[in-house]
Amino acid sequence: MAKEETPFISPVRKALIPLAGLGTRLFPASKAVKKELFPLITPDGRCQCLLQRLLEEAFSAGVEELGLIVRPGDEALFDSLFKPLEKAVYARLDEQARAEEELLVSYGRRVSYIRQESQEGLGHAVYCARQWIGEEPFLLMLSDHIYVSSGKLSCAQQLLQAFAANGGQSVLSLYPVAGEMVRHYGSATGKWLQGQNNCLQIEKFVEKPSLELARTQLRMSALPPDNFLCIYGQYALNAEIFALLEKQICDNERERGEFQLSGALAKLARQDRLLGYVVEGEHYDTGQPRAYLQSLLGFAHLETVRHTKGGGHEETRRDTKTH
Ligand code: UTP
Repeated sequence: MAKEETPFISPVRKALIPLAGLGTRLFPASKAVKKELFPLITPDGRCQCLLQRLLEEAFSAGVEELGLIVRPGDEALFDSLFKPLEKAVYARLDEQARAEEELLVSYGRRVSYIRQESQEGLGHAVYCARQWIGEEPFLLMLSDHIYVSSGKLSCAQQLLQAFAANGGQSVLSLYPVAGEMVRHYGSATGKWLQGQNNCLQIEKFVEKPSLELARTQLRMSALPPDNFLCIYGQYALNAEIFALLEKQICDNERERGEFQLSGALAKLARQDRLLGYVVEGEHYDTGQPRAYLQSLLGFAHLETVRHTKGGGHEETRRDTKTH
C-alpha cells in the first residue's frame, strides 16, 4: 500500500513580500508594469507572472496570511491579479486557466497591503510591517528571485522546517555558489550545527566578497573547494528583527543611503542568534535584464517541477544585489 505523505505544517502563519522597490534595473519596462508582474513561462507552458509564483511558494508552505509591502498607490496594480474576472472573460478561459483564476482570487482574500511611504531600503520596508506582523515569526521572501527545490519539500518549506527544528531561531536560506560567482552575492560562513548537515550558526557575512577574500574568510568544510554559501532572499525571522531595525532607523545607520536588512541580520549573527540553512534546490534571479532573460529560458525548459521551484543557471546569478 502506498505510504501517505504527512502534510507540511508551517511554524509561521504570516509571510511578507516587499514590492515597494523602484525596480530601476528593469527600467523602462518597470515604469509601465511592476517588475513582479512581469511574465514567466512555466515548464508546462503556462504564462504566469513572477508574483504568482512567489504566492504559490508562500501559500504552499502553509502560510495563512500574506503581507505585500507596496508603494502608496500601487495597491490597485497588484490587486488586478486578485480581482475576479468579468464573467464573460472567465467563460472564455480553458479549464486550467479557470483553476488558476480561482486560486488567484482565493489568494487575494488572504492578502493585506502594507505601505512603505518612502523607498529607504529593504530594512525600512520590512520595518513598515512591524504592526501587521506583531510578535509572531514570519517568512520573508524578496521579489526578485524564484525558487526550485530538488528535494521533497519546496525551498520555503525546507527553510521553515529548519526554523521549527531549531526552536524558532531566525534562519536564512543559503545556496552553494562557485567561486567565480561569489563576488556578485552576499555570502555567509559559520559553524555547522551538530547532527544537522544542512544547518549552520552564522558567524560572518560579507557583501560581494572577492574570490581571494572568500578563500581566506568564507570557506566552509563539506563544500567542494572554491564553493561558498550565498544568500538569495528567503528568510524565516522572528519578531526580534524589528527592534534591531528600529535602532538602525533611529540611529540613522544607512548603507549606500538605505536602511539595509543585512545590517540587522549581521547584528543577530554577532549575538549567535542567526542560522543558515543550505537549501536543496536552486534559485533564479529575475531582478535585472540579462538574468531575467536567462531565468525565463532556464525555468521554461525545466523538465520537472514538483513544487513551486526555481532552477539554477549560471547567467541567472550575475549582478545580484545583496541587502
Ligand atoms: P532591490 O534591491 O532589488 O531593489 O530590492 P529594487 O528597487 O526592487 O530594484 P532596483 O535595484 O532599483 O532595480 C529587493 C527587494 O526589496 C524591496 C524590493 O521590492 C525587492 O523585493 N524593496 C527595496 C522595498 O520594498 N523597498 C525599498 O525601499 C527597497
